[in-house]
Amino acid sequence: MKVLIVGSGGREHAIAWKAARSPKVEKLYCAPGNAGIAEYAECVDIKAMEFERLAAFAKEQEIDLTVIGMDDPLVGGIVDVFEAQGLRVFGPRANAAILEGSKAFSKDLMKKYHIPTAAYETFDTAKDALAYLETAKFPIVLKADGLALGKGVLICNTLEEAKAGVREIMTDRKFGEAGARMVVEEFLTGREVSVLTFVDGKTVRTMTSAQDHKRAGDGDTGLNTGGMGTFSPSPFYTKEIDAYCMEHIFQPTVDAMRAEGREFKGIIFFGLMLTADGPKVLEYNARFGDPETQVVLPRMKTDLIDAFEACIDGTLDQLELEFEENAAVCVVLASDGYPVSYQKGFLIGGLQKFSEKDGYYVFHAGTARKPEGIVTNGGRVLGVTAKGENLKAARANAYKAVDWITFENKYYRHDIGKAIDEV
Ligand code: AMP
Ligand code: GLY
Repeated sequence: MKVLIVGSGGREHAIAWKAARSPKVEKLYCAPGNAGIAEYAECVDIKAMEFERLAAFAKEQEIDLTVIGMDDPLVGGIVDVFEAQGLRVFGPRANAAILEGSKAFSKDLMKKYHIPTAAYETFDTAKDALAYLETAKFPIVLKADGLALGKGVLICNTLEEAKAGVREIMTDRKFGEAGARMVVEEFLTGREVSVLTFVDGKTVRTMTSAQDHKRAGDGDTGLNTGGMGTFSPSPFYTKEIDAYCMEHIFQPTVDAMRAEGREFKGIIFFGLMLTADGPKVLEYNARFGDPETQVVLPRMKTDLIDAFEACIDGTLDQLELEFEENAAVCVVLASDGYPVSYQKGFLIGGLQKFSEKDGYYVFHAGTARKPEGIVTNGGRVLGVTAKGENLKAARANAYKAVDWITFENKYYRHDIGKAIDEV
């Protein structure tokens, strides 16, 4: 098979790495890809939002399967464009990707189908939102309706902060048109867990669980980022919780989408809060998580291409989905200053020390190949993943491997996976 992956981050590197292990794949392409992905795939210089060019490429090269890694093209309807041209593609259509594309849509869906989530109100004007906040309880959570690179969520401790937040999102449009509507939501407390699932329209199958670390600084301080590190599995996500979520959250979500005429095929990423009142949905994503994928796929035994095909063909109930009985930790190496401002172009050393057979992986997020070697080319630069027989061992291995990598401005959190000490 010829397979094309659309995207360019650490997540797509992990997808490309795993896809390349499938005996079914004879040739892998990635658009636009990055310097790490280029090890397994031919990188093609077409951007993820250039749907027509991507479809033309897929036709020309007789691509058998295209896999969409990123949220923007999914929400923008890339799957519809490919399908209209008879091309086989993995991911939800636009009418289903709205599960991630509009927080107001997903909240209304959960309310209608009694799926546990935080209480909320939706607003179309700053004036109405501000009036509502006058009588609200704090802390409170403000969310831009649309896609905002995972940054459109503000947790506000006081009325003053919340008022400033409404101005940022709705008046100043800091997140662009994503802020034309806003969801104001009850603040939940508990453990967060990410559960990635394969969905074929009817059946939903969970992958192993993971936990992200969204804040930039140690001890969950500083600004929200795309994700600074992950571990898998989450020791807090027990078999009992998984069974509860399947009955009350996962299957009901898939059934609700079908009942709404929005059949979902692809990945649903359930962002959950394990509250004292049980698990509740914080958010849905319509794609693999980044950097959750960098700890989940290295532990997956099943052929990834088989899983993609089962989702497309509606045969997921027959798939044997298996994960290793070990653990993995991913520490993101960023450029100092991320997520605000940072320099790029520094030479990276130590990449050759990683050996996958020993359970060490380095996934590229923001890198570029230059004549002098591989250089930093983004805020999040690399994801260093290590496996171990348990979380403690995986964490020790991951931090050992973090030291192998050198570049000027290297920044990372020192406490990825620290929560497991409490178990
Ligand atoms: P989201 O993009 O919706 O996942 O939100 C980003 C992050 O904000 C989540 O990972 C949580 O840490 C936090 N968050 C979102 N919604 C809530 C909520 N209702 N209560 C507490 N924290 C939240
Ligand atoms: N790691 C969170 C996300 O992918 O949205």
